[in-house]
Amino acid sequence: MGTLHTPEMLQAMICGMPKAELHIHIEGSLEPELIFALAQRNRVSLDYPNVEALRAAYAFTNLQSFLDIYYAGASVLLKEQDFFDMAWAYFLRAKADNVARAELFFDPQTHTERGVPFADVIDGLRRACDQAQRELGIEAELILCFLRHLDEAAAFATLEEARPHLGKFIGVGLDSSEVGHPPEKFARVFADARKLGLRAVAHAGEEGPPEYIWSALDVLKVERIDHGVQSLKDPRLVERLVAERMPLTVCPLSNIKLCVFPKLAAHNLKTMLDRGIVATINSDDPAYFGGYINQNFAQTFAALPLDANDAIVLARNSFEASFASPEQKRAHGERLDAFKASFG
Ligand code: ADE
Ligand code: ZN
Repeated sequence: MGTLHTPEMLQAMICGMPKAELHIHIEGSLEPELIFALAQRNRVSLDYPNVEALRAAYAFTNLQSFLDIYYAGASVLLKEQDFFDMAWAYFLRAKADNVARAELFFDPQTHTERGVPFADVIDGLRRACDQAQRELGIEAELILCFLRHLDEAAAFATLEEARPHLGKFIGVGLDSSEVGHPPEKFARVFADARKLGLRAVAHAGEEGPPEYIWSALDVLKVERIDHGVQSLKDPRLVERLVAERMPLTVCPLSNIKLCVFPKLAAHNLKTMLDRGIVATINSDDPAYFGGYINQNFAQTFAALPLDANDAIVLARNSFEASFASPEQKRAHGERLDAFKASFG
């Protein structure tokens, strides 16, 4: 990447390059229009009169202020078809952004607590994943997230419900309200999940302290950290993340909307890359945070001194950090090499 690129060339490159999305809550891709359509189809009443009023409420001050609205939005999801429709809408957007592989988080407890059968949740999502592979050429997998504001027993019950569906998802994660709910709370659930052959990830260091990242690594034995932006406060932790090539799934627009950083120009993504951290760019909850993955790339590259080399590193990191097989990773790497060569 010796050539100088104009800002326009750089934007074309980051939008056109193949990439993996590793941090997307599928319930966070539910656009207000689809929320209202599903509310009507399922006769669910909402606290907002229309799409505009709902969108106007998307002014968050921290993670919890977002989660309250996010769980209310998910209340319109009742049937297998609803989960399919939500995920399919995401895959069409992902295709437009040149996402070649997506690993989708889903929150079964948000739905089973309302009486929705676990099978309807996972079957609708899995059907969309299979169709995305067949019709859009996107590799798609599911990661089951435990809600950390609920207790260990609820997480165990969810893992038990998930057991008959083990072939349909590849891993477990940990999300929802972080502060006050350290990873240790779920040590035994994650140990059982790993014994079942599931991969493990966890949100840590989004709002919570670096100690939560240490315990996600040491206690939950995760293979990726979701967010992890607080890691730079702890030089020893940074050393470890670099030495172990431990990926962080960073979500820049989310961090701004939830006031983790005051503005994109103050985000620490460039510092992470310069220190050698295996960072990736992702959308988190794109319907709520103002953009899908390419918007995250575009706005972050416009705000920070990131160049074409960083772009390719971010795309390469996304495939390396994914749970794709070695053969799939090799194929993604070759396609990325070809893309890079075409840009000169
Ligand atoms: N659930 C959906 N989005 C989340 C986020 N950014 N952090 C924690 N839990 C979430
Ligand atoms: Zn998240």
